Amino acid sequence: MDAARLNEIVGRYPAREGKILGILEQVQREFGYLPKNILKDLATRLEVPLSELYSLATFYSFFTLAPLGEHVVTVCMGTACHVKGAPELVDTLKRLLNVEVDEATKDGKFLLTTEDNHFTITSARCFGACSMAPVLRVDNKIFGYVTPNRIPAILKRFGWEERDHQAT
Ligand code: FES
Repeated sequence: MDAARLNEIVGRYPAREGKILGILEQVQREFGYLPKNILKDLATRLEVPLSELYSLATFYSFFTLAPLGEHVVTVCMGTACHVKGAPELVDTLKRLLNVEVDEATKDGKFLLTTEDNHFTITSARCFGACSMAPVLRVDNKIFGYVTPNRIPAILKRFGWEERDHQAT
C-alpha cells in the first residue's frame, strides 16, 4: 500500500470515535491481514502507541497479523471442545498439513499456513456449538463431533490431497 492510499484511508475517518477500528478494518480488507509496517506507519500518523493497535488487532477476531491461506481451518479451543479432544484435532491437522508450531503459539493461539498457502489453521474460543464438541470450522462451514479420523475427509472437501502436504 503506498503512502497516498494510506492517506486516503486515514482521511476518510476524521472523527476520533471509531477512527482507528475503521482504518484497521479497511487495511484488513485490502490486504487480507494487517502488515506490521502499515501498523507502524499508522501508529505514527494517528499518534497512538503501536501497542494500542496490536491490542485491537488481537482482540477482534476479524483482524489477523499474518496472511491467510485460501481456506482457513479454525479449531475451537473453548472448554467443551478442549475437553472432548480439540488438541488431538490440532495435532492431526498439523501432521496432515505438514505445518509446525511457530512463535504465534506462545499465548495459546496459533496461525499456521501451509507452504502452498492453500490452508491456514488457527484457533478460536467457542463457536456457540458446544453440544457438538469438538467443533472446527473451515471457512464458514462448521463441522461437529469431529474426530482425528474424520479430518482427511473434511480437508478433501476443500481441495486437500494427501500427497500435497506430506513431509518428505
Ligand atoms: S467450546 Fe467449542 S463450540 Fe463451545
